[in-house]
Amino acid sequence: MLAKSYTKLCDLFPGFRKSSRKQMYQLMAYGYRKRDWTFMNYGYAPDSTTAELVLHADDEINRYCIQLYHYIASAVELRGLKLLEVGSGRGGGADYIKRYLDPACVVGVDYSDNAVNLCQEHYCVKGLSFVPGDAESLPFNDQSFDIVLNVESSHCYGSMSDFLAQVKRVLKPGGYFMFADFRNLEQLDELKEQLEQTGMRRITHENITPNVIKALDADHGRRFAHIQRGVPKMLHKLLREFAGNKDTWIYKGFQTGDIVYQNFLLQKV
Ligand SMILES: C[S@@+](CC[C@H](N)C(=O)[O-])C[C@H]1O[C@@H](n2cnc3c(N)ncnc32)[C@H](O)[C@@H]1O
Repeated sequence: MLAKSYTKLCDLFPGFRKSSRKQMYQLMAYGYRKRDWTFMNYGYAPDSTTAELVLHADDEINRYCIQLYHYIASAVELRGLKLLEVGSGRGGGADYIKRYLDPACVVGVDYSDNAVNLCQEHYCVKGLSFVPGDAESLPFNDQSFDIVLNVESSHCYGSMSDFLAQVKRVLKPGGYFMFADFRNLEQLDELKEQLEQTGMRRITHENITPNVIKALDADHGRRFAHIQRGVPKMLHKLLREFAGNKDTWIYKGFQTGDIVYQNFLLQKV
């Protein structure tokens, strides 16, 4: 009920959405600094016909969150390319891509200074860096990246159109925009229209909600246990909502189809 009212308020006032989310991410990065929390997405479970992704033992714990990154980022051969991740959070995705998919460099940008500081302290990987910055006014030169990746971050933005203009500006001609996030079903047409308006060529578009539900089901126990043992009891309900546990508003929204998780691959022509 509370989560639904908050979302309604955010839809009415995009400025409030942007600033309230920022406070939340700032607080989470400040209050929980342990290295055992590196991803903040709902995850992805492939169809049963897909071969299982091979991971190092240390990465197994984050399998579903990693699979979301892998699915989105492996649409293009990344070897030797310059990749920017907008909304890099606690850095797990950028780190995975640098270590496994071998781009020349990965830069993560996030408007939570605390999250960026955390990443700068936690990761020591050659070619991987993190900088503070706002998706709606990216601190990079025109045409400086081959790939822009954006995973489950754009639902926080004040202006999606401003963000997309920035994506197009920092991409080199021929570069790719890899995008995944959720929207209320009634906002889907608007999202498609916003992407269309960029003039970038749509290569693929897919509804991956069933794969996200499957991942949330499979990862429920780990998420639940992590919250139980990691944070004070008074925050459990709120964080279970954030984590998409089975009894939550967002999980039920995915199930009923009122909330849809989308994946797009676009190319700057
Ligand atoms: C749900 S988390 C996802 C993080 C990461 N992509 C992952 O999958 O683990 C959303 C992230 O987007 C960031 N974010 C939200 N609005 C932003 C903005 N306007 N500019 C940059 N980062 C933003 C938040 O600080 C947060 O780290």
